Amino acid sequence: MQNETVWSFCIPQVIKFGEGAVEEVGYEVKRLGGSKALLVTDAGIVEAGISEKVERLLKDSQVEVKVWDKVEPEPSIEVYRKCYDYAKDKGFEVIVGLGGGSAMDVGKAVGMFLEYRGDPLDYVAPPTGKGKKYAGPGIPKIAVPTTSGTGSEVSPTVVISLPEKKLKVGISDNHQRPQVAIVDPLLTVDMPPGVTAASGMDALCHAIECYTTRGYARKSRPSSPAERPVYNGATPLTDICVIEAIELAGKYLRRAVNNGYDIEARKGMSLASLLAGIAFSNAGLTAVHAMAYPVGGRFHTAHGVTNALLLPYVMQFNAAGDAPKFAHIAELLGEDIEGLSLKEAAKKAALAARELALDIGIPKSLKEFGCREEDAPHLAEETLKIQRILVGNPRRVTLEDLEKMFDKAIQGEL
Ligand SMILES: [Fe+2]
Repeated sequence: MQNETVWSFCIPQVIKFGEGAVEEVGYEVKRLGGSKALLVTDAGIVEAGISEKVERLLKDSQVEVKVWDKVEPEPSIEVYRKCYDYAKDKGFEVIVGLGGGSAMDVGKAVGMFLEYRGDPLDYVAPPTGKGKKYAGPGIPKIAVPTTSGTGSEVSPTVVISLPEKKLKVGISDNHQRPQVAIVDPLLTVDMPPGVTAASGMDALCHAIECYTTRGYARKSRPSSPAERPVYNGATPLTDICVIEAIELAGKYLRRAVNNGYDIEARKGMSLASLLAGIAFSNAGLTAVHAMAYPVGGRFHTAHGVTNALLLPYVMQFNAAGDAPKFAHIAELLGEDIEGLSLKEAAKKAALAARELALDIGIPKSLKEFGCREEDAPHLAEETLKIQRILVGNPRRVTLEDLEKMFDKAIQGEL
């Protein structure tokens, strides 16, 4: 039996960060032993000329490259199947996922399917899928983000939409983590303000949730072996990453939304997103992400926007669960907590997160997406099923607690 107090920390083999880092994509493909690569991306990235740039860089390094650009936002299982059908039996040696979380997710998963075969559902956890595990690291994968938020470039997880079931499921396996993450802030400058705001708030949610997630390694680690290798709860290493990430997002997110060509701000948000991704893919998350899943499935709200909207309500509820950390978050987001009691300072964190979200144009209430008061009980029931995430929440959450938080978020009253 695994020692309950042991935690682990996994990251890609190589992380390249900085302005112009993408120039090294060809070198990295070669280093991984590839001379034939599949570039997985979406139409927007092609239109922005980023795909063509990466293709040229690969060809300059004598890498033969084919492009599959049919990734859609919040990709359905059909998108994964189509990419796999295109790629199989063509002899690709390296997969490069270029774009937001969706493109990187599809690239990561297809790199695994090409080696281990079968259908995506074979690898999704039961009861929806068969829960099959990958036998090894699959085809080498390189992830190149063009947004600052998902952290997919360093995470072992992919998210798959099942539209007919109004459900989002995931495959989480350490073998699926990219071998190389190339984070070039210059690739994010053309991101529109709305996407910058949503993805930036997603990164902030990852950081805040991860900082306050309960240490499973101490007492209440999930007993299911399938859950255990991936998330530890917060550890000293993840804390170091997210403290920096929260401060960076507090300092740079407004600037990045207001002026996409503010390179210092873009660089700050790229780093915030990377650090938060490294941390949460080891530590886990809390009720914000759990509550966002049923909302997104039912009202088709964007992942980052849903999280941003729910964040202050969960922070308000959780503040009592870890007052020192929430007081620290308030401070990291620029609040003056001098002279306040720990309890008062902790409460300021939710207000600071809400102010930031409103400043960058995140809607105030779930009502604005057609969500009504009578939807709260159902959303709460669906959330309560997501125990793999809820188990990390710093306060125990009941059905009633979830319903109250949804009520407030629907009304927009903190
Ligand atoms: Fe997220």
